Amino acid sequence: MRLPLVAGNWKMHKDHREAVDLVRELDGLLAGLEGVEVAVCPPFTALSDVARTLKESRSRIVLGAQGGYRAPEGAYTGEISPRMLKALEVHYVIVGHSERREIIGEGDQLVAAKARAVLEEGMVPILCVGETLEEREEGKAESKVRGQLESALAAWSSDEASALVIAYEPIWAIGTGKTATPEDAQEMNSFIRGWLAERFGQDTASGVRILYGGSVKPDNAAELMAMPDVDGALVGGASLKAADFAAIARFRE
Ligand code: 13P
Repeated sequence: MRLPLVAGNWKMHKDHREAVDLVRELDGLLAGLEGVEVAVCPPFTALSDVARTLKESRSRIVLGAQGGYRAPEGAYTGEISPRMLKALEVHYVIVGHSERREIIGEGDQLVAAKARAVLEEGMVPILCVGETLEEREEGKAESKVRGQLESALAAWSSDEASALVIAYEPIWAIGTGKTATPEDAQEMNSFIRGWLAERFGQDTASGVRILYGGSVKPDNAAELMAMPDVDGALVGGASLKAADFAAIARFRE
């Protein structure tokens, strides 16, 4: 059985003080929650304070980050290395988010290199894939996602892939209030699992958690995560409100 993962991607929100307030409130609201892993991915400037807060309160919330460069260190002005994230006890790192691909211009090769760099530091990439509305309407959603998987995971062995988390995030559903239907999410997540089975074998494929992301809210979380191949959620906007994010994490209740 795959342990559901509900991860909050805070994007470029919350300074280090606001981040500590949010994670404290969230931790209180999650008391007693079993059978769901909860992670938060604050901006870089808040990671250190959030890490300390989680440690001091012995929280079960897992720390994630929103990226990191592909090299352990070096002359890369403005970048953060996976090694620095590891030193803060970061466990998950979001890689290949559509906002980085579309707004910052990260290409498939860089996404692949970043995913490997995260793996090599012993952390877990949350690899994001997903199509635009135009690609969906033209019937190209699966080929887009297949291409993203092929390029990002070209150098991965089955053993390595078993540690991976994938997030299917249709670009048209991000921050728009338009959620994919549970059936849409299931269809793509099952396609992704099929691809993983072909590439890495059935055992690996059945262990990989495949999340859905895109306008996940308290009122649609349960039906999305009830789908057999939707193993959790990557939540943007709703992860900035402790009550909403806690309600999503408590989707079974
Ligand atoms: P929203 O939940 O705000 O649509 O964002 C989704 C997302 O991009 C998570 O990574």
